[in-house]
Parts: sequence; structure tokens; C-alpha cells
Amino acid sequence: MMQEPQTEPRQNISSPSQQPAPRKLYVKSFGCQMNVYDSQRMADTLAKEGFIETQDPADADLVILNTCHIREKAAEKVYSELGRLRKSKQEQGSDTMIAVAGCVAQAEGAEIMRRAPVVDLVVGPQSYHRLPELLRQARAGERVVDTEFPTEDKFDHLPAPSARATRKRGPAAFVTVQEGCDKFCTFCVVPYTRGAEVSRDVAKILSETRQLLAQGVREITLIGQNVNGFHGLGPDGKVWGLARMLEALAELDGLERLRYTTSHPRDMDDDLIRAHRDLPQLMPYLHLPVQSGSDRILRAMNRKHGREMFFDIIARMREARPDIALSSDFIVGFPGETDADFEDTMDLVRRIGFASAYSFKYSPRPGTPAAEHDQQVPEEVKTARLAELQKALEASKAAFDASCRGRTFDILLEKPGRQSGQLIGRSPYLQSVVVNDPPAGIGELLTVTITDVGPNSLAGRAVAAAEPIRLYQPARMEA
Ligand code: 5AD
Ligand code: SF4
Repeated sequence: MMQEPQTEPRQNISSPSQQPAPRKLYVKSFGCQMNVYDSQRMADTLAKEGFIETQDPADADLVILNTCHIREKAAEKVYSELGRLRKSKQEQGSDTMIAVAGCVAQAEGAEIMRRAPVVDLVVGPQSYHRLPELLRQARAGERVVDTEFPTEDKFDHLPAPSARATRKRGPAAFVTVQEGCDKFCTFCVVPYTRGAEVSRDVAKILSETRQLLAQGVREITLIGQNVNGFHGLGPDGKVWGLARMLEALAELDGLERLRYTTSHPRDMDDDLIRAHRDLPQLMPYLHLPVQSGSDRILRAMNRKHGREMFFDIIARMREARPDIALSSDFIVGFPGETDADFEDTMDLVRRIGFASAYSFKYSPRPGTPAAEHDQQVPEEVKTARLAELQKALEASKAAFDASCRGRTFDILLEKPGRQSGQLIGRSPYLQSVVVNDPPAGIGELLTVTITDVGPNSLAGRAVAAAEPIRLYQPARMEA
């Protein structure tokens, strides 16, 4: 169970005027889980400077937009958000400070200052530990841009979250183990915005996890742009891969569940597949982006794997962990993609049977090789292919969710539901499961049987310990 909030230390209420009012921070995170994690680290850093978080940008002394550059639409969102902030600042006559962080900050740097004069500070993902100093400079009237890739490790300087912050964030937490990417898929900006692959030392990951567990966390998701490419320095002086890291984490007291994301098929090695067989804490759910089902397109994307290799990994994963569910990312309309290539993607989707997926129209990104390709696919073709693919993926997800009806599994209770007495937990497959009057509290695992399946969540009822449990028969790949 999550620990109860401790009483706050008593303040000297006899002289309130001596207490400076806490400054308020509003952080908005766009894009991937790495940004969610980084946003939390920035909030932890600024908590030490006296900032408390608010959910209302109009109420904030400092607004940080933690941005995503992966597709054009994501990057443009920042500018519409900045437009809104400028308007509300003018209307209120406020002097709210505005910072742009994340991958747009890294990619565009000073260009953001030029396009959006409302911005006081631009800070790239490798410089978050310098935020307090950068804010002081900005407050002194400078417009500050810091998008260096410093040689020091930012994680050595970013403070751990307080017990209170961890409790507020709930029993499932992220831990960054790796950042950056050396794969250079021809569509992707990540190798440019997040730089080369760097893995954290095993000892630092273990110590951050231990602290989170002591604060009531029960589920850890290891995150990295190429998380299964992890190669951290172990306490034995050797380089550890992700499987070894997961084994060490699984031994920690209080850690009930482990996940990792996002992986690359190329780095799904035998050790990692075996870890899925051997570690009960490792959840039977794998997000493994494939991007396309066409060998020709995979080659043009520089993915370093073909469709057969993907099928082979999935077959071995299913052998190791028969109840595993799969998720993936897809891009339609990559330059040169023909109807036949797209049909290969549809065929792969039908054969695997994904439990969930993300799919996108190809978006040319400045500086990436594919953006220069002369066979760009017309927008209306991309739109039609995306609609067809999403229809198939939604049907596949609905079929997976429906197959969960009557199944029994543990959920980790994370937050209150809409109605009183309800709690919402996560299934091993990341589905939200609503339970009425559960005999357990937030932060606890509860065994439930799924009674109803809705479009966005499932409903379950708690199982008495002695009830028989119906085991899951996973869908098999078509021959
Ligand atoms: N256009 C469309 N989708 C992209 N992704 C990455 N770059 C692009 C792009 N240029 C998708 C990939 C990746 C996910 C995080 O975003 O599917 O796995
Ligand atoms: Fe981008 Fe490819 Fe690296 Fe993933 S593996 S971050 S898609 S370059």
C-alpha cells in the first residue's frame, strides 16, 4: 500500500509575512514517456528552489513546455501553446516566466526565441540540472538558450523526488536507464535531438529504484529511446545488458512489476527473451515498434531488420511467455511506399494480432535522410492508408480486450474511479480496470476477474482467494 501522507512539518504561523509565498510551477509534457519522466525531474529540481506544482498555467510563476519534435504536428503544437500563453499573459498583465524544454528546444534552439518573443528560456534535455542557474539568468533579464550536450551526467545532479511527490504520482513509476539512439532510422529525429546512446550505471539505477520502492512504488517501467540497447556499467566492472539489469531489479524487495519501453527488434536478444520466461515480475506485455511490414520499406527506413526477423522474435517471445500481449508503432506513407508495401503491413497486422498500437502518417523531419527523398507519398494516400490500418488495429485491440472477459489477473490499484467506492487499476496489459468497493487500497495488487469490456476500460470484480482461476489461451499467429 502507498504510505499515508505524513503530516507536514509545522510552520511558524505567528509571522506569516516572513514566509515568502511559494512560487508556482506548471509543466506541460508533450510526446513520449521520457518527457513525462524528465518533467518530473525538472519539478523535483525546482521543488528544491521553492516551487510547488499547479495544474493551472494562469496561476503559475513559471510555465515549462516539455516539447516533442518527432512529427511536424507535435512540434507545431508548441507554437500554438505559446500563442495561447502570450494572449493570457497580455490579458492578465502577468509576468509569468516561460521556458521551452525538450526536443523542440534541442532542435530549434534560438529559432524559438525568434518565432516566439514570449519565451524567456530555451533548455535542451541534457541541461535540466542547470535549470535553477538558467532561471536566475532569465530573471535577470537575459533571454537564455542552453542546448549543449554537456560532458557531465545530468542524472548526477538531478535530485530524487520527495516522498510526497512520489506518492502523488502513484505506485507506478518510470526510471530512465538509457537515452539517445545510434540507429539512425531514416525518418527519425531522435538521434539528432537526444544524441548518441548513453546508458546509466547499474548502481545508479538500482539506487533510484530502491528509493522509489521505499516511497511506496510497486511497478517500475525502465525507459529509454532504445531501452533494450541498454549497456550500463555493472558493479562488477562489466557491461550489463537489459536482461541482467531486469534480473537485478526483480530481486529488490517490494518490486511487484517490471516493464521496459521502447525497444528495437534488433536488440531483442536471447537473454532478454529468456527474462520474459524466467522473471514473474516482468509483465507479459511488449511494445516493439515494427514501423512497416514491407521488407523494401524496412530497408529504406534503415531499420536493420526485415519482416521475417520480426515474426521470428514474436514467435520466440510467445514460446517463452505464452500469455504475452504485443504492441507496436507503425508509419504509413513512408517515401516510396506502394500499395503492395502497405498490403504487407496490413498482412503483418493480421498475422500478429496486436493488443494495442500507435500508427502515424509519415512526417518529413528537417535534417533526416527520408525528408529529402523524391518519392514522397501524397497526403490523401497517407490519410486513406492510415484510416485502413487504424481500423484493423482497433479491431485487433477490441478482440484482445474481449478475450480478457472472464480472465483473472492481478491489477495494480492506482487511483480513485469516477464513482465513490471505485478504484482504477492497471492490468498486466496496461488496460485500465475499474473495480467497485475493492478489498484493497491504492498501491496494492488485487486479483480480479474481468466482468465487462468497454472501449476505454475494463471492469472487474475482486476474486476470493479460493476461487478457481481460468487460465488464458493466447491467440496464435496464423500459419
Ligand atoms: N513520421 C511519422 N512517425 C514517426 N515516428 C518517428 N518519426 C516519425 C516520422 N518522421 C514514429 C515511429 C516511432 C514513434 C515514436 O513515432 O513510429 O516508433
Ligand atoms: Fe528513432 Fe529508429 Fe532510434 Fe527509434 S530506433 S529512436 S525510430 S532512430
